[in-house]
Amino acid sequence: MIKYQYSKLGFYGVVMARLNILHYPNSQLRKSALPVETVDDSVRTLVADMFETMYAAPGIGLAATQVNVQKRIVIMDLSEHKNQPQVFVNPTILEREGEGEMEEGCLSVPGFSETVRRAERVRVSALDLNGEPFELEAHGLLAVCLQHEIDHLDGKLFVDYLSTLKRDRIRKKLEKQARLEARAA
Ligand code: NI
Repeated sequence: MIKYQYSKLGFYGVVMARLNILHYPNSQLRKSALPVETVDDSVRTLVADMFETMYAAPGIGLAATQVNVQKRIVIMDLSEHKNQPQVFVNPTILEREGEGEMEEGCLSVPGFSETVRRAERVRVSALDLNGEPFELEAHGLLAVCLQHEIDHLDGKLFVDYLSTLKRDRIRKKLEKQARLEARAA
């Protein structure tokens, strides 16, 4: 089943690696990612590894920034059966429209979810895995995910939309958790 998913992207037979996902408040998550100049095999390998990592987590979206790679790459799979992988290289939001609220979580902020206000509709341009440009109009969950993931590429997290109080509480809990994990290791 996993192989079928990747085969849609042309990764059949590729040996994939699971990457380490950085957790808030790791300062690497604050870096601004650089545009991908050429969509080559190294990019495609990274994307395959990102899918392996995201599906295993499990999550519905992942930005390269979260696996400590400062490149403008976002992946997503919003389907129930995890068989509709989507890749956005150098994604740019061209238009935003309306406003909506949705509860968001993040693989870099494990164990927390909060309501975030964002644009309801977005139009996005990006490159696919062949380096071909495409445009997409999104609303609902896809629009929210695109904004959330593109934020990551600019060093921004969903906790930045929360009150200082809420954000600090999340930060302290995750810092404590990281200390406990470091001690156990
Ligand atoms: Ni996230």
